[in-house]
Amino acid sequence: MTQPLSDADLLARADAAAVRAYAPYSRFHVGCAILARDGRVIEGVNVENASYPLGMCAERTALARAIAEGYRPGDLVAAAITASPCGGCRQWLHELGLERVVFRHGDRVVTMTPDELLPKSFDSSSLA
Ligand code: THU
Repeated sequence: MTQPLSDADLLARADAAAVRAYAPYSRFHVGCAILARDGRVIEGVNVENASYPLGMCAERTALARAIAEGYRPGDLVAAAITASPCGGCRQWLHELGLERVVFRHGDRVVTMTPDELLPKSFDSSSLA
């Protein structure tokens, strides 16, 4: 029997992924590891560009990768991130319905729900 992945294990996966970030401009490496309901882990890193605003955050590369592989909102359980998620990434984490988000904040590891990260968010119900 394989052991279920702990949040600490997931954060370790994010730490390991961060080494592969492409961040020649900020030199700030971020890694994100997402645990799917089927037990798979999908990793992402930040990918920067000489045209600075086109850079992508680690969370969004991981989430876009999960979508491209067929996962849908509700299929993703937890995301672990090596840094505090930015506002835009909070919107993405909310959209894709993760149960919890684990991230480093200073010396601490914090766990929050997407609703706690982005209360009263703009979502599909706002479009009704
Ligand atoms: N970054 C992320 O990858 N995720 C976040 O939530 C915060 C910021 C990246 C973007 C940029 O490549 C670098 O960190 C510095 O802002």
